Amino acid sequence: MGQGPVSSGHASGGDFDKVLVLDMGAQYAQLIARRVREAHVFSEIVGRDIRAHEVKARNPVGIIISGGPASVYAEDAYDIDPGILELGIPVLGICYGHQIIAHTLDGTVAANDVAEYGRTALTVANDESLLLSDLPVEQEVWMSHRDAVVGTPSGFTVTASTVDVPVAAMEDRSRGLYGVQFHPEVAHTPHGQDVLRRFLYEACGARPTWTNVSIIEQSVEAIRAAVGEGRVICGLSGGVDSSVAAALVHKAVGDQLVCVFVDHGLMRHGEGEQVERTFREHFHVNLIHVDASERFLERLAGVTDPEEKRKTIGELFIRVFEDVAGDIEGAAHLVQGTLYPDVIESGTKDAAKIKSHHNVGGLPDDMDFELVEPLRDLFKDEVRAVGEELGLPEEIVWRQPFPGPGLAVRIIGEVTKERLDLLRAADAIVLEEIRRAGLYGELWQTFGVLPAIRSVGVQGDGRTYAYPLILRAVTSEDAMTADWARLPYEVLERISSRVINEVDGINRVAYDISSKPPATIEWE
Ligand code: XMP
Repeated sequence: MGQGPVSSGHASGGDFDKVLVLDMGAQYAQLIARRVREAHVFSEIVGRDIRAHEVKARNPVGIIISGGPASVYAEDAYDIDPGILELGIPVLGICYGHQIIAHTLDGTVAANDVAEYGRTALTVANDESLLLSDLPVEQEVWMSHRDAVVGTPSGFTVTASTVDVPVAAMEDRSRGLYGVQFHPEVAHTPHGQDVLRRFLYEACGARPTWTNVSIIEQSVEAIRAAVGEGRVICGLSGGVDSSVAAALVHKAVGDQLVCVFVDHGLMRHGEGEQVERTFREHFHVNLIHVDASERFLERLAGVTDPEEKRKTIGELFIRVFEDVAGDIEGAAHLVQGTLYPDVIESGTKDAAKIKSHHNVGGLPDDMDFELVEPLRDLFKDEVRAVGEELGLPEEIVWRQPFPGPGLAVRIIGEVTKERLDLLRAADAIVLEEIRRAGLYGELWQTFGVLPAIRSVGVQGDGRTYAYPLILRAVTSEDAMTADWARLPYEVLERISSRVINEVDGINRVAYDISSKPPATIEWE
């Protein structure tokens, strides 16, 4: 802490043993960092350019070098500072990291005759191995490589091999250096987590103290220290991140926290009430609920262009929030629900870029507050676990993502009170049926879209001319890509018949079977 926003305090100190994950450019660094934390050891991702003295200054108990896309012999191959291997801090190299250890010391890496991709049988070759002993001699691992270590550096013992690769794992226990060609972090390596645990506990002597309870305790202390006696403002949206951040800050400073819930009237059925119930009634948080729905509707009248809609909503949101915040006396701090992946995306070179949205609820940089970011060190799954530990209801903690501009980007054409009510009613049925079928948690997002067209139908003895509801249900890992969900016909049938029967103004339900890309998840 000290400079910049207040994190929960772990990354820069705290009582937690820490492991650094050197990101060598593949998409595996985040997964490795999460697996380390699942073993209750704090992990931090750092760029591959980090120098040995910088590593030392961060005082880790261990270092993991991730996989990478390149060959160690390529002209522009990624290197590490060789001094990192001489710090006396245990190092585990994974895949490219394994090869980098061999290449940096006096081992040999070469293109193998056979590339190994996918499930591969591994034979443990040495029962003295620190990482692999106690594990089955024959086990499956996940491989993804062409190059391989063909000569171990001096001092190393080969601890496992495959049919095609003689040095599938190696170690030099006296120097605390370990390498595995396979990926212990992926689920396809059944004993992978055991290997990581052995590295963390046996090689590094790391203490498994990174637990939800201790995360909360440390955060509470860090927040108290940062905030002092002043007041803290937190914008609540009903989403997971702002809710957990608010609950954490409330635990730390109680009534010094004032939550502001700008209700733009574009939320789904019952969501505004849930924010009220949870924070005012359950947690007894000072909550200012601003019903700005009329103002938003007035401003949205006649707006049909998707970008203009977003901009209109974003600007008004900021105006309303600033008005309220400006009236709160003695407030010097503002809570933001920034997560660790947002931090590393700007920090290391190769982490994937996530599309940035003009985010409603995102506040301008020039607001005159010190930021408090209690989730800055946490991955999403940790935020959820902390939320559960703090007693937030399941519907909030496990809520599917919901766009800041809300239902406005799911109403094609003009947003009016009538059309909002229509979509809200239909969307509530969709979610109810998806929950009832036990599918809510498996799907990334599920919702209804109201297009600007109408079609002819027949209901009772009369002809109707009404809107269709477009049903969208997708599976995804990170919203960068998505696939339409293969919902069971019975679920589709129930949704369709209930929406058409119960929502006056909708006479047809269509299912969107487009993946992203080329479509997007939302319709606007
Ligand atoms: P698309 O539609 O681009 O959406 O595939 C990807 C993810 O982002 C969410 N989304 C938004 N979130 N403000 C937000 O806070 C927005 O303007 C916005 N637009 C889309 C969308 O719900 C999906 O999860």
